[in-house]
Amino acid sequence: MALHNINYFHWHLTEDQGWRIEIKKYPKLTEVGSYRKETITAPGSGKFDGTPVSGYYTQEDAKEIVAYAAERFITVIPEIDMPGHMQTAVSLYANVSCFPQKEAPMNISSPVCPGKESALEFCKNVYDEIFRLFPSEYVHLGADEVSKKNWEKCSDRQKRMKVNNLKTEEELQSWFIHQMEQYFNENGKRLIGWDEILQGGVSPTATVMWWQSYEKEVVKKSIAQGNSVILCPNYDFYLDYSEIGQSTRLICESVSLLDSLNESQSKQILGVQGNIWGEFIPSRERMHYMAFPRLLAIAETGWSQAANYNWKSFQRRMTGQFNRLDALGIDYCMADLEGFCNTNTFIGETKVNVISPDPDVVIHYTDDGTEPTEKSAVYTTPISIRDSASFAFRAYRPNGKSSKVFHASYKK
Ligand code: ACM
Repeated sequence: MALHNINYFHWHLTEDQGWRIEIKKYPKLTEVGSYRKETITAPGSGKFDGTPVSGYYTQEDAKEIVAYAAERFITVIPEIDMPGHMQTAVSLYANVSCFPQKEAPMNISSPVCPGKESALEFCKNVYDEIFRLFPSEYVHLGADEVSKKNWEKCSDRQKRMKVNNLKTEEELQSWFIHQMEQYFNENGKRLIGWDEILQGGVSPTATVMWWQSYEKEVVKKSIAQGNSVILCPNYDFYLDYSEIGQSTRLICESVSLLDSLNESQSKQILGVQGNIWGEFIPSRERMHYMAFPRLLAIAETGWSQAANYNWKSFQRRMTGQFNRLDALGIDYCMADLEGFCNTNTFIGETKVNVISPDPDVVIHYTDDGTEPTEKSAVYTTPISIRDSASFAFRAYRPNGKSSKVFHASYKK
């Protein structure tokens, strides 16, 4: 991160599925809440892998990470996600949710009850310890994807709405966020929230983190209201999403929306962020593979003038960065081979054309259905064919690192 001038580490520490930071006042959060029996195999699949998961960071671990980051000029922004995604907490402590909640760690987005003083007290007590651990001025409240089903049935929440003249569940959510923001401010902190904090009204001092790509008005609306914004639209900036080599291009091009902002509006964009959710990332190597080189494209957008975004120029420089990543032992995703489709059709005669944007690779290929290796034929110039054929290509870097296999069939 430091090598590429990435200067904030936003650390999402809690979810329905697990609580990952020690809170001394509420020891069950990690003693019980950092363990789960199994994990869903893919979002929405309904299938579970049968493998237990556990683990959390002690407060000493967190301090060590904050200090390690600070030495590299990186500020750690902690997030305890609320009022939703609190299943772990609400199942372990009484009077935090509307109704007693049991187990069911896959009960996604179970919220705290904004109607109960005991729930607000719980949230503030948790943040008291977080504020002491993390010197960052910015702190992230979360506030995404709040399920409001329980709120609709709860008498405490009804009382709260009546007293405060709140008409909708969105306004109640907004009321909770304002309460927490006030508490943040009293403690010298500034609040960041996911873009759902716009629902029901948000104070102009909060920073909005745009994550829902499909909510296209977030940036415009936030800026008009005077809010600062951080950009991480999920389709392009979520590094746990499928690693398509071309997505460095999407990252560079997605921020072209900033072209239309004037100078003062541009100042309301605080930066960009790449999000990587660890749930389906089983190892450090896999994390590296998902994050690189896309993280370099994110750094590029963060540190370039909007008028200067140029993916072609980035791509040329990116392959130079591969040598550095090799030296650092980072298992990045190599550049995709280009110039062909999976299935190609032709009449008469055609040429099989393969291009790598990385000038340091050697491309090996086969046409007999076997997987290419470093012993296979080397591709140097376009191959002429007169009959149907199928090719498999693989690029090799000078250190032996190889790309995935690219298939191209040519049908006459
Ligand atoms: C999010 O990805 N739910 C912020």
